[in-house]
Amino acid sequence: MPLTLADTEALDLVDPLKNAKSEFSIPENTIYLNSNSLGVMPKAVPERIQDFTTREWSNDLIGSWNHNKWFEAPYRIGDKIARIIGASDSEVVATDCASINLYKLVVAALNARPGRTRIVTEAGNFPTDLYMLQSVAESFAGDVEIVAVQDRNKIIEEIDERTALVVLTDVHYKTSHLLDRKAITERTHQHGALILWDLCHSAGALPVDLNELEADLAVGCTYKYLSGGPGAPGFIFVAKHLQNQLTQPLQGWWGHAEPFKFVDDYAPTEGIGRFLCSTQSVLALTAMEVGIDVFLKYEMKDIRRKSQKLGQLFIELIEERCAGFQFTIASPRDPEQRGSHVALAHDNAYAIMQALIKHKVIGDFRAPDTIRFGFSPLYMSYADIWNAVTILEEVMQTAQWDRKEFQIVNSVT
Ligand SMILES: Cc1ncc(COP(=O)(O)O)c(C=O)c1O
Repeated sequence: MPLTLADTEALDLVDPLKNAKSEFSIPENTIYLNSNSLGVMPKAVPERIQDFTTREWSNDLIGSWNHNKWFEAPYRIGDKIARIIGASDSEVVATDCASINLYKLVVAALNARPGRTRIVTEAGNFPTDLYMLQSVAESFAGDVEIVAVQDRNKIIEEIDERTALVVLTDVHYKTSHLLDRKAITERTHQHGALILWDLCHSAGALPVDLNELEADLAVGCTYKYLSGGPGAPGFIFVAKHLQNQLTQPLQGWWGHAEPFKFVDDYAPTEGIGRFLCSTQSVLALTAMEVGIDVFLKYEMKDIRRKSQKLGQLFIELIEERCAGFQFTIASPRDPEQRGSHVALAHDNAYAIMQALIKHKVIGDFRAPDTIRFGFSPLYMSYADIWNAVTILEEVMQTAQWDRKEFQIVNSVT
């Protein structure tokens, strides 16, 4: 029996996360399937920002660094993020963006493994990760080789005694394929190398237990599943036992042991603070903390369970109702091997997504032929999935995507 809208509404009625949606601001008649790019705004953000601008900034002014605890914000929010990614207090700071944090950690890790020349990563990793690695290799003037492995299943074999560092994104940004974090981390350690996980597509979407994994380093962003806001600061994780062994290259005054002594020579502070560089975007941190606080109210295992169910429902409905429209499911069907989005490949992917957006079903496109649908269990219902696939079916049946207006390529896809 084909699934009906009523079936999905019945699932919503018994959904333990159904009330979470009221914490988020979602435009009317919109099915938002893009939390893998930009999470929606938590409703509490405007009031918090209003308070920040009228009281903290306008009135309390510079005294806010102390009295309103602006100076502590990267640490305080870092500790909150730590709870979401299975780390301990003082192992995470919220700062900069994922790319810059990656750069800091890659250089620090290479310096901590002298004599080792290789960084193992994945070809087709998110481009910024590869670009940052290329830039580091250039600055090490030929002493560092980037091994970008084509076949995900062979990454593990490439890790050996020559490896200084392994840099991987656990959930692939395009396909959503989840790597075996445990096996890769273990292999890395067996060979005396360090591991750096890019958690951009897993923080807030699936359980990550960095301490249980004995992970060394991680970075991530907060503007996707964690609803931190556009361009919200990212985070940096360094396992406690490594923190004072590593020195990062962007030696700014915020990482100094005594920033307000204003001495000429750099001396890193103890602990996670040495991975900060400079004055933080307090306004952005303030908005972002609201999103993190919402996530802390919920159990990551419940979020994961619903995300997997939403993904399965989406795949089933696509197979049932969009068979014959030449879509390929570009993500693993096994929910255990998938992150929180599902990718479809199609020759007309860009135009199809534009037509969907016109109908307020919002996902995104990744060149050359992939459309992505991200599921954020706190604000998505099973009926949303049913309705989104209904609209996709209509777009395909009526070939609406073929209209001229949907062929115009925007700068952001
Ligand atoms: C896996 C991954 N890493 C890194 C980034 C880039 O992060 P940022 O622009 O915050 O530096 C992204 C952005 O989407 C990403 O998906």
